[in-house]
Amino acid sequence: QVAAMDDQPLKGIRLVLTAGPTRESLDPVRYITNHSSGRMGFAIAESAARQGADVTLVAGPVSLPTPNGVQRVDVETAEDMQKAVDEALTNGTDWFVATAAVADYRPVTRSESKIKKNKDSAPVIELQQNPDILASVAARKQNRPFTVGFAAETNNVSDYAKDKLKRKNLDMIVANDVSAPDIGFNSDRNAVEVFWEGGSQKYDARSKTELATDLLTLIHKRSRA
Ligand code: CTP
Ligand code: CA
Repeated sequence: QVAAMDDQPLKGIRLVLTAGPTRESLDPVRYITNHSSGRMGFAIAESAARQGADVTLVAGPVSLPTPNGVQRVDVETAEDMQKAVDEALTNGTDWFVATAAVADYRPVTRSESKIKKNKDSAPVIELQQNPDILASVAARKQNRPFTVGFAAETNNVSDYAKDKLKRKNLDMIVANDVSAPDIGFNSDRNAVEVFWEGGSQKYDARSKTELATDLLTLIHKRSRA
């Protein structure tokens, strides 16, 4: 069988993605994380590979199968994710898409052994900032890919998203309202609004698979604009 030419519209595109949460350990049995399922990022990776792109997916701890044809790098912490992204990005990387819900902070100390309960006092966990992976990629002076961020917000969604677009020097940001019932974080469906300098585009609720393909079409168009 011969595929039609249009089946591979992303042939020649090199894409690096982050997906899922990160996990920041306190001790060998406990950690700080968030509700990200990784599904949006995996859906984009799958759609891009199906359309002929060369895809590297840097994934935090999620329970999802690796999409066909996708090169997957598993990581746990934000610092590991930063390292894996730096290794995955090459001169030839065309697009960087950050869907991961990176933990903003990590514990200052990680105990080698299980922390024991103290009857008389509750512990205070001291945290420090994690690196901002997306901002570090967008700040590159050389070999900077077309850089796309995601903003999961519960309120003032478009204002916060537009602020991140500017502050992190992104080419595009995908905003979604995670307070809306049945879409976003742990759902199969999502509704988003995408912002770039001087424009925006709304996508009503649809499957993450369908949205992934729509977003890739928009990224393809905007990255050539
Ligand atoms: N991001 C990242 N590294 C971080 C934090 C965020 O790469 N340490 C990326 C996310 O993958 C996402 C975008 O930045 O694409 C926005 O993440 P978000 O958590 O909404 O932004 P923050 O700047 O951390 O702002 P806040 O959590 O205060 O809303
Ligand atoms: Ca954050």
